[in-house]
Amino acid sequence: MSPRHIVSASDLTKNELYELFQSAAAHKRNLEIGKGILPSLRHKILASVFYEPSTRTRFSFESAMKRLGGDVISTENAEQFSSAAKGESLPDSIQVISGYADVIVLRHKTNGAAQEAARVSEVPLINAGDGTNEHPTQAFLDMFTIWEAGKVRLPRRGLHVLFYGDNKRGRTVKSLARLLATHAESAEVDIDRITFGGLQDLGDVGPEVTAFLEANGIEVANCGNVPATDADVVYLTRSQKERPMSSGTEGVIDYVSYGPEQASLLPEHAIIMHPLPRTELELPKSLDSDQRSFYFPQAKNGTPVRMALLEFVKQ
Ligand code: NCD
Repeated sequence: MSPRHIVSASDLTKNELYELFQSAAAHKRNLEIGKGILPSLRHKILASVFYEPSTRTRFSFESAMKRLGGDVISTENAEQFSSAAKGESLPDSIQVISGYADVIVLRHKTNGAAQEAARVSEVPLINAGDGTNEHPTQAFLDMFTIWEAGKVRLPRRGLHVLFYGDNKRGRTVKSLARLLATHAESAEVDIDRITFGGLQDLGDVGPEVTAFLEANGIEVANCGNVPATDADVVYLTRSQKERPMSSGTEGVIDYVSYGPEQASLLPEHAIIMHPLPRTELELPKSLDSDQRSFYFPQAKNGTPVRMALLEFVKQ
């Protein structure tokens, strides 16, 4: 059987995503009541191979594996501490690591790196973010958060989602926007409109994603640097200043924060999300006490969702 890689947010069918959410919800309940968890991945090993910094993604994957009774081998700065420093290619490293582990979680700075790695991996390879391209597991947990909010506060039909920040270079935005356009019914919500915005040209997600959304029946708009006020879901992102702009220059463009003033214009039922890490520039701490702020529960959902995903890809 060929391994079940997760390179893109579209690698799960609608049914699979729905089942993933059911399983994640069960894990979440168990975690909340402190109930012992069945060691479904006992004797399995996860290799976390990170060529870029990470807090949430790496820790929640490693926590997920350990909570399922499995073990973890990892390198958090693979550029420096793996044989990449000696000039080994990514495919060579992955081929070798796939002989030592049952699943690989890879984060890399290059677009397409996860696809390249999956081609040689003998075990499931999970993309934990590749350059400005995709971050599928973040999109799964983001959708899971929307699914949960849909049960208690969001309208079920005709949702309007605002992505505000660095949509050009933000990989979480691209994976989630695509997933919303094709898999919203897995989260039992219905998306009509997606608006992009941010300062200068960072707000524009680009023609490829826009065309994809439109081809899937989503009405796409751009609100420039004035955030839309009628959004049901607001998804903020920081300026990805470590990533070069397409012109080749370092993209140090900061933008005005999305503060309590903007949030106060949103409907009461709206939720404000952010993949984190945040900076005060786009999301000040003063918003944390707003009942619409969902970014910390969103981050916490990383563990149960990744537990469900590790069980799903298990060979
Ligand atoms: C995001 C990422 O790495 O793309 N972080 C995360 O995984 N939660 C967002 C970011 O770095 O801005």
